[in-house]
Amino acid sequence: MALSERESWLLNFYRNSELHGALLMGRLARTMREDDLLVEMTAHCATEARHAAMLSRTIASAGANLDPTIPPIQEHYSEAGGVPGTLLEILVLSETLERRVRESYHRHLVHESPHPAAAETIGAIVAEMEAKHFAEHAGWIEGALGRLDPGAVDAARRKWQAVDANVAARLERGLDEQFGNRTP
Ligand SMILES: [Fe+2]
Repeated sequence: MALSERESWLLNFYRNSELHGALLMGRLARTMREDDLLVEMTAHCATEARHAAMLSRTIASAGANLDPTIPPIQEHYSEAGGVPGTLLEILVLSETLERRVRESYHRHLVHESPHPAAAETIGAIVAEMEAKHFAEHAGWIEGALGRLDPGAVDAARRKWQAVDANVAARLERGLDEQFGNRTP
């Protein structure tokens, strides 16, 4: 069974976005000065890099090509909302993105009639994200935001959640235009 063009595009998009997330966290993990943040950022970087590796292997094993030129989701966010400049904004954006990724993977499993290899990999990532022990993967972001100015955190959450809703709707439309509607 071959990957459809639509699913191949989506898997590459997820792969590139996970990798971009890993690189961003890795960069933060070299610049911060707080040990507890450094520990969490390093672990977060490793997790996202592992997800990118799982998706890369899945694309290749299903006989499709890897396409590192497909822009990651973070690029769509920056286009719509600007490049996050402060730690507060980066953390809020990561939190928003974490929720979006989980939702996209659920949607993929239910609506994309996934290739068995894709279903297995995405299912494994989702199961991992939802396991109790995994709460710490993103839970540290909430903890770190809890130590910052609540008014500024609220404002940034409102801003990035609006950007997120726009980006998600635009991506969905673009996908349907490029490849036709998903199979029922
Ligand atoms: Fe991930």
